Amino acid sequence: MNNVNPKPAATTPQQPLLTIEDLSLSFETSQKGVVLEALQKVALVVNASQTVCIVGESGCGKSLTSLAIMGLTPTNALKPTGTVWFQTKDNKRVELLSLPERELRKLRGREIAMIFQDPMTSLNPAFTVEFQLCEAIQTHSNVKLSKTQLREKAIAALDAVGIPAPADRLKAYPFQLSGGMSQRVMIAIALAGDPKILIADEPTTALDVTIQAQILTLLKNLQTSRKMGLILITHDLGVVAEMADFVNVMYAGQIVESGSAADVLHNPRHPYTQALLNSLPALQMTKTNERRLESIPGVVPHLAARPSGCQFHPRCLYKTTVCVAGHPALKAISNDHAARCFKTEGKL
Ligand SMILES: Nc1ncnc2c1ncn2[C@@H]1O[C@H](COP(=O)(O)OP(=O)(O)O)[C@@H](O)[C@H]1O
Ligand SMILES: [Mg+2]
Repeated sequence: MNNVNPKPAATTPQQPLLTIEDLSLSFETSQKGVVLEALQKVALVVNASQTVCIVGESGCGKSLTSLAIMGLTPTNALKPTGTVWFQTKDNKRVELLSLPERELRKLRGREIAMIFQDPMTSLNPAFTVEFQLCEAIQTHSNVKLSKTQLREKAIAALDAVGIPAPADRLKAYPFQLSGGMSQRVMIAIALAGDPKILIADEPTTALDVTIQAQILTLLKNLQTSRKMGLILITHDLGVVAEMADFVNVMYAGQIVESGSAADVLHNPRHPYTQALLNSLPALQMTKTNERRLESIPGVVPHLAARPSGCQFHPRCLYKTTVCVAGHPALKAISNDHAARCFKTEGKL
């Protein structure tokens, strides 16, 4: 297969699970030859047993990044460019963007699975939990399972995601479940194929605060016990502080800062990351109770109205003429910490 790296397996145990390089995605417009760039050369890495957060305000390109990994970008988008290398369970290195749909379909669920923000709309309202969960379990099983075997596995799967009285819950329809319970069912369905990576796109945004914490704890426990990679998408740096090993901050379709959770949260170098942190009550309280909560003035630019130069400059406290004209590169600050700002380049 031409998508498989020829290197022998023995030399690749340290390979990351997923390596995204130069991922760009555009939408066509009604004007011939004019495209809107939604993702610009996104790069990120996910290692085994690692929680990698993608954080940024709404419209920054977080969901499109995860959909590109799954080969599920919107139909009105142009084909994504760049590379997404993935290390399969049998230690093959495949490039997902060039993989035919038929091959990608085999990987979805078994190698990479995804859960979304609103569990209520992801579950089919017309079928019971048992039907939907058993269907996922059978799809990912190599052998035909009997009804009893499927039921036993379904009960175990619900138990593993912390659903009490799982045998009774099997009979429920989605509308009979709370938001938190529905999300647990979605997680059980997503894990039915024992994936190496779970992508969770704002999995707790639609839930009450106490339920959010329970679902995050569940995800963390499942990630640790299954040694999965977890890509957690959120607009909330509080969630990042709870969960992340590694953080990618996105703004206007670009990664603007990346680093370990400790680096990004305690030594943020991009003014956007700093502004996100300043708008977060709990984290800044630990520094000083006197600092005011600041929301970030302005909004994420519309794709059709991107500013010149640094995409963040219209909202940036430190902008100079350099920022209006030039495009800062993602520059390394230390080993695995980088930021896209002229300030880190020493040009301001
Ligand atoms: N199907 C689409 N057609 C046109 N523009 C889209 C489509 N989907 C997303 N976009 C645009 O791409 C940008 C990134 O979207 P998205 O990845 O959903 O952001 P996020 O998940 O960070 O909120 C936004 O400006 C959004 O309006
Ligand atoms: Mg989104």
